[in-house]
Amino acid sequence: MFITFEGIEGAGKGTAMERTSQWLDRQGRRTRLTREPGGSALGRELRALLLDREQSIEPEAELFLYLADRAQHVRQIIRPALARGETVLSDRYADSTLVYQGYGRGLDMAALITLQTLASGDLWPDLTFLLDLPPETGLERARARNKALGLERREGRFEAEDLAFHRRIRQGYLALAAQHPRFRIIDAGRSPEAVFQDIRLILEPLILLY
Ligand code: TMP
Repeated sequence: MFITFEGIEGAGKGTAMERTSQWLDRQGRRTRLTREPGGSALGRELRALLLDREQSIEPEAELFLYLADRAQHVRQIIRPALARGETVLSDRYADSTLVYQGYGRGLDMAALITLQTLASGDLWPDLTFLLDLPPETGLERARARNKALGLERREGRFEAEDLAFHRRIRQGYLALAAQHPRFRIIDAGRSPEAVFQDIRLILEPLILLY
């Protein structure tokens, strides 16, 4: 089973994924935690470029770097893990491209879907958790975390975007979630424990099917 976690910056994806993977392990599932950008060796190099606040990257160049990251990630990490029967949990995937490069940067949605299909070999998640919260709260959390870890320059390119950008991202995610039944919207403004309990309740019946 291929599960993705999506949401604006500071939505708590990392914590939710850690808990979910520990729980899945306890259910006897072998899980693989991964992320985009940066799930493969080439992807880690691309991540450093993509998130560096000092880089000035044109929207089309940004798109192709994310797609290059995905092409490697799918073929070198995700598909082999799925073939071994593992449950793959990815921190961001294709929906991030549709939302950040589409709703955020204003690139054409139909072109994005065609290119994402090519880059991923038409691999889409079985299930997507959208950790939803107001951008004001998320940005505050993300900027505080980057500051505490000294990552403002190295990981701060998107955190430096204005509130209007992050509002478009949230609206984009909610619009996608309304179109695709694989989405589950989780209220991420609550405690990590409450967020995880919602995820567990959704996964419990599903893991019997996969
Ligand atoms: P994060 O892994 O710390 O969440 O940061 C990744 C950033 O990259 C985040 O701001 C969203 C952005 N992103 C895109 O713009 N397009 C994509 O396709 C992906 C995977 C991420």
